[in-house]
Amino acid sequence: MADLLKLGVLISGSGSNLQSIIDHIEKGALGARITMVASNRPDAYGLTRAQQYRIPTAVVSHRDFENREAFDRELLRILQGAGVELVVLAGFMRILTPFFLRAFPDRIINIHPALLPSFPGTHVQQKALDYGVRFSGCTVHFVDEGVDTGPIIIQAVVPVFAGDTAQELAARILKEEHKIYPQAIRYFAQGRIVRNGRRVEIRDAGNHDAALSNPPPEG
Ligand code: GRF
Repeated sequence: MADLLKLGVLISGSGSNLQSIIDHIEKGALGARITMVASNRPDAYGLTRAQQYRIPTAVVSHRDFENREAFDRELLRILQGAGVELVVLAGFMRILTPFFLRAFPDRIINIHPALLPSFPGTHVQQKALDYGVRFSGCTVHFVDEGVDTGPIIIQAVVPVFAGDTAQELAARILKEEHKIYPQAIRYFAQGRIVRNGRRVEIRDAGNHDAALSNPPPEG
């Protein structure tokens, strides 16, 4: 197990992305293992998921700390204590301070349910519907000091259908999240990620040679 990449997964809620990462690990398909799942909310269902697999868990409630840095300091202590090498934000609803970011340079990733740089922030499926885009999707990116602004590692695209509700669009996007997040982690475990400023190269990833239109082409 010594050469498996050690992951620290941070959650705030349901943890379906956490589940997908666990499932890929169980299949032996990631070259990684989770050494800590930490939540800022004691009632996050993701904690139960982790415990079912005997993965160590911690609750660091932001309410117990007088400022963001004190919260981050405790989080950092827990992750470093678990030997974490890659920090994976999976529905983690807190903004990390520069203090925390400096401790894991190019070693913190997030998944966002929109095609960045469109629709950063929250409630983004509704915002995509309100804007009237024909495609949305999800993005795995490095975390920097901004909100959803870090260099992009992988994206997946889904169509938006007439009459979609935010829940329907969110479910269509989530299905893709569950594929591309494990894929991004595998890139890390295999040492295939090279970052040049904002541009991230994935070694030997190949190219997609397909264009999409929505509605589809006619004639
Ligand atoms: C996902 O849509 C993720 O992109 C966003 O929060 C949601 C978390 O879902 N950051 P889950 O907790 O992994 O089920």
